[in-house]
Amino acid sequence: MKRLSLLTLFAATLCSPITAQVTHTFDIQTAKPGAVIQPTMYGIFFEDINFGADGGLYAEMVKNRSFEFENPWMGWNTTGNVEIRDDGPFDRNPHYARLNFSGHRVKHTAIENEGFFGISVKKGETYKFSVYARVPEEAGNKAYFEVQICDKALDLNQHKLASAKITVEGNEWEKYEVDLTPFATCEDGVLRIFLRNSKFRKPQNAVDGPSLDLEHVSLFPAKTWKDRPGGMRQDLAQALYDLHPGIFRFPGGCIVEGTDLADRYQWKHTVGPVENRPLNLNRWQYEFDYRFYPDYYQSYGLGFFEYFQLSEDFGAEPLPVLNCGMTCQYENPIEGEATYHVAVEDLDPYIQDAVDLVEFANGDVSTTWGKLRAEMGHPEPFNLKFLAIGNEQWDYKDNPAYTKRLARFIEVLRKKCPGIKIIGTTGPNSEGWDFDLLQPRMKQLGVDLYDEHFYRNEEWFLSHGLRYDSYDRKGPKVFAGEYACHGKGKYSDGKEKKCNHFETSLYEAAFLTGVERNADIVHMATYAPLFAHVKGWQWRPDLIWFDNFRSFRSISYYVQQLYSHYKGSHVLPLTMAGKPVAGQEGQDGLFASAVVDEVAGSVIVKVANVSDTPASIHLNLLNKKKAAQFTSAEVITLHSDDLDAENSLDNPEAVVPVKTDLDANSRDITIGPKTFQVYIFKR
Ligand code: AHR
Repeated sequence: MKRLSLLTLFAATLCSPITAQVTHTFDIQTAKPGAVIQPTMYGIFFEDINFGADGGLYAEMVKNRSFEFENPWMGWNTTGNVEIRDDGPFDRNPHYARLNFSGHRVKHTAIENEGFFGISVKKGETYKFSVYARVPEEAGNKAYFEVQICDKALDLNQHKLASAKITVEGNEWEKYEVDLTPFATCEDGVLRIFLRNSKFRKPQNAVDGPSLDLEHVSLFPAKTWKDRPGGMRQDLAQALYDLHPGIFRFPGGCIVEGTDLADRYQWKHTVGPVENRPLNLNRWQYEFDYRFYPDYYQSYGLGFFEYFQLSEDFGAEPLPVLNCGMTCQYENPIEGEATYHVAVEDLDPYIQDAVDLVEFANGDVSTTWGKLRAEMGHPEPFNLKFLAIGNEQWDYKDNPAYTKRLARFIEVLRKKCPGIKIIGTTGPNSEGWDFDLLQPRMKQLGVDLYDEHFYRNEEWFLSHGLRYDSYDRKGPKVFAGEYACHGKGKYSDGKEKKCNHFETSLYEAAFLTGVERNADIVHMATYAPLFAHVKGWQWRPDLIWFDNFRSFRSISYYVQQLYSHYKGSHVLPLTMAGKPVAGQEGQDGLFASAVVDEVAGSVIVKVANVSDTPASIHLNLLNKKKAAQFTSAEVITLHSDDLDAENSLDNPEAVVPVKTDLDANSRDITIGPKTFQVYIFKR
C-alpha cells in the first residue's frame, strides 16, 4: 500500500481537530479478544461477466480463435477464397479455416481478426503469435503466409506495425509460433493473415498459390502474470493480488447455471489443453437486450486449473461453485421441471462431477483427475477445502426444488469427500419469502456455510448494520457471496444509475463494520461483480474497470482492500453506551468495529461517519496497561467532498485511501463527515 503515503498532506487536514458538539466514547475490550477472524473473511468473486475473462483477465487477444462461434466468421473479416471446415485436429473444437488461392494473382486471400474491442499493442513490446496449420493433402506440402499486426488508422504508407513470414510444411497439423514486436502503439488494430506464394508474394496461379488450413489462431502479450505463456493480464491479476484475498470464488454467478442445461458451466470442459476446451455461450451475451454483445462467448482459456493456480498465487482458498442440476430459475419455469432442470433421480452425473472435481484438486497423481492436474503442471494438490453447490437457486412454497437436489449432493459428498465444507445458498434475495424458506432449510441440511446475495440501495446498507448480530449462532456460517451498494442517482436519460460513486463505497464500508463485528458467524464476504471492460459491460457497479491497456480500481475496491489488509486476527468487542456502533438511533451516523492482530499486537479500529457533520470520538481502549505499550499509530482515510466522485481510466486515483501518522497515545479523534477511517495502533 505504498500509494497511501503519497497524499499525507490531505489526510493531515482531515484529521486536524474540528470542534464537534458531543464526544462519542467507544469502549473497546482490548483485553477480551472475541471471535477469530477467518483467513477467508475477505475475498474475491470471479465471474465471466462484463468481458471479465475473455477480453479481460485472460490475455488472449484473438476473438473466436477457433472459429467455433455460432457464426464461425464472427470477429473475422475475410477476403478472397476462404471456407470453414469441421474435421479439425481438436475434436471438441472441430472447426478451422481453409484459405485458398483467390483465383486471380492480384486479388488476396486473407483473414483479419478484430480482437476484443480492437487488437491493442504497445510499441516495443513482444507479442506471441501462434497457430496450428497444415497444407491440405490435395495442395502439395508447402504453404506460406504472412501475419501482420496492423493499424488501419496509421498515417503512413502502410498499416503494418509488425509482421512475420511463416512457411508451413506437410499435411499434418503442427503448431507454428513467432514473436511480433510492433514499432508503434495502437489501440484499435487488427491481426491479418495473408496467404502467400512460394516467394511470399501474392499467388500467381492455382499451382503456386496452394491452400492452407489454420486453427486456433492466437496472440498473447509476452508479459503476462508470472510470465506464464498463454496466461493472464498482468495489471488485472496484480489488482487481485493486491487485495490479499483470503477466498477466491469462481466461476460465477449465473454462468454456472446456464439458460439451458447444455450451456451450464461444466468444469470438465475447462481443463486439459486449451485448444480442445469446447467453446460455450456466455449468458451475459443476451441477458440484457439493451446491452447486447452477440460476440460474447467463453473460450475457457481461463478454466478450473487456472482458477486453482490463481488462488494459489494469491494465497486464497479456492472456492468453486458447481451447477446443482438446475438452470437459471429466472429464465426457466419450475412447472414441468424435468424439462428445464435435472430430475432428482438423474442427478448422478452432476454429483459425480463434484466428486471428480475434488479428485482433480486434491487427488493423488495416480487417480484419473489427479493425473490430469499433474499433466497440466501441478502434481501437488491444490488443497481444496470448500465447494458450493448451486448459485442463486431457490425453493418454492410447494416444491423444495433446490434443497431436494442439494440434499442428494450432500449425502454423497459427505461420504466420498468428508473433508470438504459444503456451501448452499439462500437464493438471490437477502430477505423475503424465498430467503425465509431457505435459511432454516440450510440449517436442516447441515451445510457448513450458506451463500447470501444482496445488491441493495443506500438505505438498505445503512439500515442493516445489525444484520448479523441476531443470526443463529448454532446454524451454518455465512458467506456473503455477492453484494454491492447500488446507488440511486439518475442517468441523463432518467434511468437508474448504478455505478461506483464514493457514497455507495462509503456505505459498503459502514455495513462491513457489522460483518467484521460478527466474524464468529460471517466467515467470508466477496463483493460482486469483480471486473468490467469499459466498452463491454453488462452490469455495474464493479470492483475493477479496464480497457485494453489500462485499468483502475474503484473506490469500493479500496474499501475491500482496507478491510482485507487490516482484518486482524480476532474481533474486539466495541460498543457505545453498551450498544454496537451500527448507525443506530442516537449514534449520529457512526458505524465502527475493532480487531486485534494477535501476531503483530496491533489494535485496529474502523470507523465510518455517514453523517454530514464531523464526529468527536474517544477511543476507550479497555486495557490501559497494554494500551500504553503502543509505539506508533497511523490512520488511513477514505474521503471525498463529492459524494458522486468516481475513479476512472483518466483519473484512477480521484479517491484513494490516504495514510497519515498519529500519536500512539491519541485516544481522542475526530472523523470528518462522510468519511471512512482505519486507525492502527502498533506495538
Ligand atoms: O454478479 C452478477 C450476477 O448477480 C451474478 O451472476 C448472479 O449470481 C447475481 O444475480
